[in-house]
Amino acid sequence: MTTLIAYATTEGQTRKICRFAADHLVELGQSVELLSVEDAEGMDAHRFDAAILAGSVHAGKVQPALLAFARDHGAALSRMKTLYLQVSLSAAGHDPQEWAELARIADGVAAEIGWTPGRTAQIAGAFRFTQYDFFRTLAMRWIAHQKGEEVDPGGDKEYTDWDGLRALLDEWRSEAPPS
Ligand SMILES: Cc1cc2nc3c(=O)[nH]c(=O)nc-3n(C[C@H](O)[C@H](O)[C@H](O)COP(=O)(O)O)c2cc1C
Repeated sequence: MTTLIAYATTEGQTRKICRFAADHLVELGQSVELLSVEDAEGMDAHRFDAAILAGSVHAGKVQPALLAFARDHGAALSRMKTLYLQVSLSAAGHDPQEWAELARIADGVAAEIGWTPGRTAQIAGAFRFTQYDFFRTLAMRWIAHQKGEEVDPGGDKEYTDWDGLRALLDEWRSEAPPS
């Protein structure tokens, strides 16, 4: 079983999540290829049995490069077992409106790529003040304040539930591939 993990990231948390997923699957004896969609030129998706796609939400949108990758390789990917990880800060909370928005974004992803991943999971990301420029720092401090979150503007604050992600991967692995 060879699994492709293809991701897009803006501040690095999705890459960290995908590295964790790769390490976990390798520990379970699977063969894994971890790939940034920026480096996917010439890749043949047909040689994989399963795929995890991951991207993060910024201003209500997922990276266009991830959508382009999923669309370009749709013929192969849509026939294999797939998991789409959508990383955001809304997924760290319990606001029903924000969760409805995450579902709407995921539906939009499926519509844009022209196929629906076998499974979609919303994954809590991180504030990464070490990666933000001046204006992003101001905006993200304001968002943190609105959410009642204490943050250190000189550091990062991670909300990703690593145990939950491990359990999700185990569950997904045991699911049957599409017929
Ligand atoms: C400029 C900016 C805009 C963001 N917009 C959203 C958003 O619309 N909804 C949301 O839930 N999270 C939003 N986030 C949070 C990111 O999705 C979160 O920080 C995630 O961990 C980023 O993943 P990455 O480091 O892989 O890019 C935003 C973050 C930044 C910096």
